[in-house]
Amino acid sequence: MKNDYRIALLPGDGIGPEVVGEAKKILQVLESGMGLKLTLETAPVGGSGYEATGHPLPEDTLKTAMNADAILLGAVGGPKWEKIDFSLRPERALLGLRSELKLFANLRPAKIFSALVDASTLKREVVEGLDLMVVRELTGGIYFGKPRGIETLPDGTRRGVNTLVYTEAEIERIVKVAFETALKRNKKVTSVDKANVLEATGLWREIAEQVAKGYPDVTLEHIYVDNCAMQLVRAPKQFDVLVTTNMFGDILSDQASMLTGSIGMLPSASLGGKTAMYEPIHGSAPDIAGKDLANPLATILSVGMMFKHSFDREEPNLWIENAVESVLAQGLRTRDIMSKGMKEVGTVEMGDSVARELEKLIQ
Ligand code: IPM
Ligand code: MG
Repeated sequence: MKNDYRIALLPGDGIGPEVVGEAKKILQVLESGMGLKLTLETAPVGGSGYEATGHPLPEDTLKTAMNADAILLGAVGGPKWEKIDFSLRPERALLGLRSELKLFANLRPAKIFSALVDASTLKREVVEGLDLMVVRELTGGIYFGKPRGIETLPDGTRRGVNTLVYTEAEIERIVKVAFETALKRNKKVTSVDKANVLEATGLWREIAEQVAKGYPDVTLEHIYVDNCAMQLVRAPKQFDVLVTTNMFGDILSDQASMLTGSIGMLPSASLGGKTAMYEPIHGSAPDIAGKDLANPLATILSVGMMFKHSFDREEPNLWIENAVESVLAQGLRTRDIMSKGMKEVGTVEMGDSVARELEKLIQ
């Protein structure tokens, strides 16, 4: 098995550099503990890419990303760049990376750590034992569909346009990822659409049915997105794998994250191309940036997903999950998951504590 990996670190903006900084400690523990050689290359992206080069996805950053074995990204965006042209906004870097690297499949696991059951805004019995996977389509749909833009009409008023478009092939490949994922889990796929109103998602439903024929051991259910949003807070444990469009997946994964206590807990993997990308699902949280308040756990857990999916090593992922579980069991909490009787710690102390636990587990 290969021992030598190049990892592109793209910290980005806001709390991005802080959480990636903690994830780097985890990478270093794995490197020495497992006898690996990790080459870490840091490059600017998002607002920081724009500041450095005038473009949120600098050419050199894209090159570094493409030549790496895996990419770890922090977060992009912030109020500083909200007024600039759409094509130069920090978010474009993320969308650019996803489409350039052909990362059409986004896995967002919402799994609750037992120590955090009481951190959820929902009742214990609703969330205890929760373990679901959102499979979000990531390079198509309304995020990328054309025509798009804002145009001025003859009467001088403006019109904004975005287009929801999916080809059969795009639907088929993402639904297949969901079925393959379900095979390794509880063998149930719930396809989320709005087939009662949107033709494109009517096609989605049809293709999901076709794909299901190849997976006789997996159950397929369909649900409208509005009902899904409701069921996620009513009885989320009914779900195993949810598969859905780019925008529905964006929204539902934020919602699913809160079931686990905080959006600061959810890692993600974006797969499909030669090099995969891993990132926390949360944003750049400019309001708490630079204050040692951010929760680094989602980014740390993303490192686990990297080892599992890009390096085909399942163990480090389990070690990291266990290290996080024991730090939480010790009562350590960042502010977003703080509850009575627990000890509030900063970003750095949380990262150091997980790194220490991980060291013990590897030995
Ligand atoms: C996410 C984010 C991004 C998205 C933004 C920052 C472009 O919300 O990864 O969920 O909408 O995909
Ligand atoms: Mg989002």
